[in-house]
Amino acid sequence: MSSELTGIMVALITPFNDDKTQIDEGRLQAHIEHLIKAGVHGLVPGGSTGEFTVLSTAERKQLTELCVKYAAGRIPVVIGTGSCSHDEAVELSIHAGQAGATAVMVVPPFYDPVSLEQLEELLSEIHNKSKLPIMFYNIPGASGLTLSPSEIAGLSKVGVKYLKDTSGNAPALTELIFGLSDKITAFNGWDTLTFYGLAAGCPGGVWGAANFIPELAVELWDAVAVKGDLKRGRELWTKAFPICKFLEAHNYCGAVKTGVELIGQPTGGLRKPFSLLKPELQAELKQLLQNADVKTI
Ligand SMILES: *[C@@H]1O[C@H](CO)[C@@H](O)[C@H](O)[C@H]1NC(C)=O
Repeated sequence: MSSELTGIMVALITPFNDDKTQIDEGRLQAHIEHLIKAGVHGLVPGGSTGEFTVLSTAERKQLTELCVKYAAGRIPVVIGTGSCSHDEAVELSIHAGQAGATAVMVVPPFYDPVSLEQLEELLSEIHNKSKLPIMFYNIPGASGLTLSPSEIAGLSKVGVKYLKDTSGNAPALTELIFGLSDKITAFNGWDTLTFYGLAAGCPGGVWGAANFIPELAVELWDAVAVKGDLKRGRELWTKAFPICKFLEAHNYCGAVKTGVELIGQPTGGLRKPFSLLKPELQAELKQLLQNADVKTI
């Protein structure tokens, strides 16, 4: 499989069984089949949308193995291996390499922000020991770490090849795309900036909404990033944007899993402290999906 990532990379949900004690293997497999059939280009399990903060280390490894198995070499799998603990992030990354992942996505240790030097040491060790390219997960709002575009591009010297940009900072993303693309390939990771990111030159997006609007996501990518058809792209974006805006206005994982339920796939809900959206908000999301011609239950 080509090591070059491109297109719609789904920031994958983690389906649970009904009492949420375990990852639900059947639901996960069915979800991945559905996404591949819809034409998505890659999977990114174990990230924010995958509720990695409520999974045990053993579950994170299990999730990695299952996703690689179910994707079965058809599309690349990029594993979220970030942790508050340096050692756990390294351990999970080594495991991802052994399990056959394409790359790892690493969020900086959070809660207490690290320095750039501490981050570089972590990424370097992950890269050396896992032998995998790294997608740096830039999410200052959650990690507390704000890096300049040139500092982000500089991470290429410690094994970073890709960026998932969830900064919401379009000018900084633009600098990375225009001036620094020889060092790092930037994927958009901020839902409401998807159209802009693709139009500006991102090869794709790491996108949570693609869990429940995969066809629309792939069509948008094809129109804007591949064909450069802005007219068609705007028609599609008119449908997708209100959904993106809704996701960003509510608990993101809860809203995405609610979206997946609304298209008829049980997810098991979310582990506490989070939950599926309340009925009024579910109805609002359902309406947005119907407005976008997405079939709901
Ligand atoms: C990773 O390998 C490079 C090249 O051999 C080396 O310079 C660097 O110190 C290593 N990083 C760590 C954290 O061991």
